[in-house]
Amino acid sequence: MAGPRHVAIIMDGNGRWAKRRHLPRVAGHRQGMEAVRRTIRAAGEIGLEAVTLYAFSSENWRRPADEISDLMGLLRLYLQREIDELDRNGVRLRLIGDYRRFAPDLVQQLEAACVRTASNSGLTVALALNYGGQDEVVRAARRLAEAAKAGTLDPAAIDIDLFEECLDTAGLPPLDLMIRTSGESRLSNFLLWQAAYAELLFVDTLWPDFDRAALEDALAVFGKRERRFGGR
Ligand code: FPP
Repeated sequence: MAGPRHVAIIMDGNGRWAKRRHLPRVAGHRQGMEAVRRTIRAAGEIGLEAVTLYAFSSENWRRPADEISDLMGLLRLYLQREIDELDRNGVRLRLIGDYRRFAPDLVQQLEAACVRTASNSGLTVALALNYGGQDEVVRAARRLAEAAKAGTLDPAAIDIDLFEECLDTAGLPPLDLMIRTSGESRLSNFLLWQAAYAELLFVDTLWPDFDRAALEDALAVFGKRERRFGGR
């Protein structure tokens, strides 16, 4: 079977990785950032078209303020440190989620990275930031409702394709594989619409330990799955 075009990852287990080593949670997130670097490099070399990473969920605001600020700091650091290499490797950066609620300087840094890499033609990396699947669907519905109210859209014209064009993931390849690390078997509000026919894979590896071999293992499992998309 052909390999996946688009892989999404719920990067879970940073906290447990740190706890096992008697380190502060931020140390787990820092190693999580290293796993992001490794995974993006490997995904590009393997030839995936798109990787979507759950970096900050719309529910993560419930975490203590210092952990939120650690995560924002790591995101800034990641962009500063990695943008040159990402660009050199032909990565196109995209954002999904309501990321404009982040601090203005971070929003600017994120958007600048997207603009800089927009014409690259290698791997697309979509960072999910302040992302929630239900929120994404609601925002899409609101856009359609506003167009209908303004008289520019006939409600009868709303179909699956049009709805998808209003989602944050518009233009990305269909989601083939969703991986969640660290042993939990939940979607946690990630890509709910897009996961309709995706293969789901829950692995025990903690995110900071994820690497090229773990990605290749996941792709091998995907290769053995039989996908029927409702047919038989
Ligand atoms: C889950 O681990 C992970 C997150 C909430 C954030 C993901 C962030 C990173 C991988 C680092 C920065 C990302 C980028 C793109 C630079 P958890 O804290 O929920 O782990 P636990 O369940 O073991 O406590």
